[in-house]
Amino acid sequence: GAPVTVPDLRERKRRGEKIVTITCYDASFAQRVDEAGVDVVLVGDSLGMVVQGHSSTLPVGVDDMVYHTRLVARGLRRALLVADLPFMSYRNADVALTNSARLLGEAGAAMVKLEGAGWVCEVIDALKRHEVPVCAHLGLTPQSVHAFGGYRVQGRGDAAAARLKADAKAVQDAGADLLVLECVPATLAAEITRELSIPTIGIGAGVDCDGQVLVLYDLLGITVGKRPRFVKDFLHGRGSVAAAIAAYAEDVRSGAFPTSEHSY
Ligand code: KIV
Ligand code: NA
Repeated sequence: GAPVTVPDLRERKRRGEKIVTITCYDASFAQRVDEAGVDVVLVGDSLGMVVQGHSSTLPVGVDDMVYHTRLVARGLRRALLVADLPFMSYRNADVALTNSARLLGEAGAAMVKLEGAGWVCEVIDALKRHEVPVCAHLGLTPQSVHAFGGYRVQGRGDAAAARLKADAKAVQDAGADLLVLECVPATLAAEITRELSIPTIGIGAGVDCDGQVLVLYDLLGITVGKRPRFVKDFLHGRGSVAAAIAAYAEDVRSGAFPTSEHSY
């Protein structure tokens, strides 16, 4: 098929077609993921945990992201390539522009992703004014692990839910093209998805988001440590990596994944 573009994403939402997303960190897996017809490939700073063996995403630097994004770019023909801006690499608009120029210009990403709202909205606005497409990320934002005091579901209770809804509106108004919602109650993610014109991509956020994302290694059943509720091993009972990725894509498109068993 034709390459997936940034404007295609909104059109997908309008037509009610799910956006299938997977994280990826190297060229060989990128090729398999692309061949399976996955729409969006994210080079996540989760690579700090699943590739580098750290216990959080905080040690990941821009050089790491540029390196892995470049590897993944070589394996893709069709999927849209999104790269994470790592911890502190978007602390102001100027730094964010410099680092995004590397991810788009040197490494080949089409969009950058950053975490949070509030002051982050000014950064999103600056990126957009310089023609850098942006994916926002709200809910359980892993770069906030120390501020949160751990990895836990966000947006529970009326006050927290209202804050998350306001943040989602704010990142859309700032110019975000896409929004990842991580570990938020399914009913809240569904409301946000209805209220926004940009697509939402859920991970532990219920089946009603406009798309889903999983960490590649999680969907292949090689989660390190305790498996989070939202993870499903798609390799289990299947003969190959290609079949596992295809099953994930099919289950996201049909709405068979995630079930309530994978949601909050
Ligand atoms: O880094 C990552 O893999 C992510 C996804 C889980 C959304 O940010
Ligand atoms: Na990330």
